[in-house]
This record gives sequence, C-alpha cells and structure tokens, in this order.
Amino acid sequence: MKVLETVLDLNRYLAPYHRAGKSIGLVPTMGSLHAGHLSLVATARADNDIVVMSIFVNPTQFAPGEDFEAYPRDLERDTELAAEAGVDAIFAPLTAELYPPGFSTFIDVVGVETSGMCAASRPGHFRGVTTVVDILLNLVRPARAYFGQKDAQQLAVIRRMASDLALVPEIVGCPIVREPDGLALSSRNAYLSPPERSAAPVLYQALRVARDAIESGQRSRDKIITMVEHHITAEPLAKLEYVEARNAAGQEAPSILTGEILLAVAARFGTSRLIDNIIVEIEET
Ligand code: PAJ
Repeated sequence: MKVLETVLDLNRYLAPYHRAGKSIGLVPTMGSLHAGHLSLVATARADNDIVVMSIFVNPTQFAPGEDFEAYPRDLERDTELAAEAGVDAIFAPLTAELYPPGFSTFIDVVGVETSGMCAASRPGHFRGVTTVVDILLNLVRPARAYFGQKDAQQLAVIRRMASDLALVPEIVGCPIVREPDGLALSSRNAYLSPPERSAAPVLYQALRVARDAIESGQRSRDKIITMVEHHITAEPLAKLEYVEARNAAGQEAPSILTGEILLAVAARFGTSRLIDNIIVEIEET
C-alpha cells in the first residue's frame, strides 16, 4: 500500500489507472480509523478496481473553539489498519497541499440540508466539508465516493452538492457501524471517560424507543421527539443538543409522521459531542 503526501505523488500514482479506465473508489476520512471507516473501505473494495483513502484533518470544517488541535491523529496505526482492510493508497496531504497560499474559494450548500441539526451549532462546518470533499473528488476523480449514514446531515449536504454541481462521481451512503451496546463508532468516542462511555449508548436506546413507539402505531412527530428528549435528558451525563425528525427531502417531518423519517440526535458527554440517527420507514395504512 502506498502513502502519498503530495498532489504530485497522487497524480503520478493515479495516472496509469485513469489511463487504463480503471474504477477508483474514494473513502474520505480524517483518520483515527475504526470499524466504521473500514466498512466504507469494504464496500468500496467490492465495487471498484482500486481504493484510495484520504486522511486529512480538515481545518476549514472546525469552528473556532472546536477540537481541531486535539483531534486524534495516528497515521502509523491508520496505515496498518487501512492496509489490512485492502486500501491501495492513502492520500495524507499537509494542509498547504489542499489549501495553498491565496486559497479563497468555498462551496456553500444553502438549502434545507444546511439548516438546523448540526449546522445550528457548528457555523461554517458544512462549508468546510463540501469544500474539502469537492477538492478531493477533483484530485482523485473517483468513479464512486463513500460516506457513512452516521453523519446523516453531512451525507445529505454532499449529495446536494454533487447533484447541483453535476459532479461525476457517484456518492454512496453506507450503514452505521455500532459497538455491541449500540453506541455508533466515532473517533470522538476516544475522548469519553469510563462513566461517559457507559452513558453514551443512551442515544441509540432513545432512538430505538422512538422506533418501537412508531412501529406500535404512534404517529405524532411531537410526541416522538418529546419521547427521545425525555429518554436522553434522564441520563445525567448527557447534555442534549437537539432531537430532530426529518422527511426524505430533508425538511422537518410532517406533524403526523408518514413515509421515510430520519430521527437524528446530538448530545455532549463531557467534552465529546456525539451524534446518532435512525431511519424509520412508515408504511401507509
Ligand atoms: P470522519 O469523521 O473521519 O468520517 C469519515 C467517514 O466515515 C464519514 O463518511 C463518516 O460518516 C464515516 N463514519 C464514521 N463513523 C461511522 C460509523 N460508525 N459507521 C459508518 N460510517 C461511519 O466525516 C468526516 O471524517 C469528514 O467530514 C470528511 C467527510 C472526511 C471531510 O473532511
């Protein structure tokens, strides 16, 4: 497996594959790899001739005061895990490679996708995400790029960008990988103290309580949201940030739930901000 640190090296590595018409799968990450990232690699591996993973802690998607400096970085360990998972090349550039002096162009999705949820508390976050993802897509020119449903709003924002800008790569969403107790895998789980780690599965428990209630016939959006809120706020170590219900188009779900509904939550446990979500399909009766 190759580790490429410059755009020049990346271009040299990719040129023969592009010339031969090989399909490239891109898995963009910020490193600190876990089984969630590696599940994207497995899907990319199955769909494409080669798999490129980018590892880049992208400064433009961290708001001032967020954990950009503290974000866990361990390229050596990531390299081992990526090689074992079947990645062909890692692209791990320095910041100046992607944001050279004079850099001044950003991509800003301004629709429902960037209203509410994480956009409310992370100003500029999605603008940083779409900008870096577009740069990576342009550099790698993959057939497909892989993103986790774990970051449901990020996936929706990237799909919107790809559709509006007629980007060539297919954007592929992949299911959430969880710990046995239900906690969604996240690089930020590493910051949790043991008591916070024990409390954190409450997010998924709350979402499951809501899903069970919907499956038992509850159709009131507001009752479902209140149910999730109560479940999470009953945990003293959880500081709830939001509970939202969205329809398939990304708008607020109708007050009488119907169709495909995304239930999404965010809460702080100590210094860690964790997110989770589930999709519930409501059959018309
Ligand atoms: P990062 O948080 O490293 O996540 C990289 C990819 O892994 C994202 O698509 C994310 O949704 C996916 N992922 C994380 N945890 C997962 C889990 N438990 N199950 C399934 N997939 C999971 O998201 C980013 O990096 C950045 O914003 C990035 C897109 C790389 C742009 O900088």
